[in-house]
Amino acid sequence: MKDKNKKTITVTQPFLPPLAEFIPYLRQIWESKWLTNNGPLHQQLEQELAEYLGVKYISLFSNGTLALISALQALNITGEVITTPFSFVATTHSLWWNKITPVFVDIEPDYLNLDPEKIEAAITPHTTAIMPVHVYGNPCQTEKIQRIADKYGLKVIYDAAHAFGVKKDNTSILNNGDLSVLSFHATKVFSTIEGGAIICHTQEMKHHIDNLKNFGFRGETVVEEPGINAKLNEIQAAYGLLQLKYIDGFIAKRKSITELYRNLLKNIEGISFLHDIDSVTHVYSYFPILIDESKYGMTRDELYEKLKENNIFTRRYFYPLISNFAPYRELPSATPKNLPIANKTSQEVLCLPIFIELELEIVQLIVNLIKQ
Ligand SMILES: Cc1ncc(COP(=O)(O)O)c(C=O)c1O
Repeated sequence: MKDKNKKTITVTQPFLPPLAEFIPYLRQIWESKWLTNNGPLHQQLEQELAEYLGVKYISLFSNGTLALISALQALNITGEVITTPFSFVATTHSLWWNKITPVFVDIEPDYLNLDPEKIEAAITPHTTAIMPVHVYGNPCQTEKIQRIADKYGLKVIYDAAHAFGVKKDNTSILNNGDLSVLSFHATKVFSTIEGGAIICHTQEMKHHIDNLKNFGFRGETVVEEPGINAKLNEIQAAYGLLQLKYIDGFIAKRKSITELYRNLLKNIEGISFLHDIDSVTHVYSYFPILIDESKYGMTRDELYEKLKENNIFTRRYFYPLISNFAPYRELPSATPKNLPIANKTSQEVLCLPIFIELELEIVQLIVNLIKQ
């Protein structure tokens, strides 16, 4: 029976900066009356983010999904795009909104990202791009993916929604591929409540993307292409500027929670988790565990229900698999036979609560429930 008196613990919880620090920004906005359309705070956030992340050009968006849709537009992607089924559904939806056929390729078992060894077999004369996802912020095998893209003349667009601040050999992984797309949704490590961004390599591409998110306007009277409205407003930009002041502390706290989970969970039969990669600076966006029913003695769903009964609301990211959702399951590449690792992982994965204000005693309590 669910105990109504117990505190509810969700998989994530936003950290709102002190209200007193937000007020001066609001005053500035109220005084300037510049609310949106590339305002001063928007410009400042783009600049500070580019510096913080170690990327050349960044264009802010009203959310990650519109940024993904616009990234495909910016590169004129058509035909078929190779992608992973093990992601949030927006990855594939962005292809569908561009009338592109998604071609699902299986993931590799170590970090659950698109398996580069399986990409070439899925390439057809209609393939124009690859859209991998840095799942949970663990970097894809970017060099292998780029080699394949170069060999076949394909574009690469990374869905980097989970990869804010992730570095490999001290370089931002957002610099890989032609474009990378971030989400700044309230559940993410860095947030503008709703929001997102595209990272690109040249000033020309940034201009193009900036125009695309503003109806395709170039100047006051010229529309060069059918753009969309995907602009981030000044209030959200201010929220982002404040978040950025706290970000290193956020990541350090996430790291300590991750280390505690790993320490407490390490000897439980049938429970495994992902490890850090030496060359990578992680940001600990999620804490997924994998449950091997035959060894653990309980299915993932049984554990999910048990935790729920104790007011611990974990999430099964990513279940169902995108390729098993109604709009996509009839695609030839969606057949489970083509995606054995993704289907298995989707049945075994459970993301445990991780957020700044999660108390270490609650982590202990969650682990105790998993152990029992
Ligand atoms: C992998 C992935 N791609 C895309 C998105 C979409 O981002 P948004 O919610 O900002 O539209 C999300 C998350 O929300 C995500 O997790």
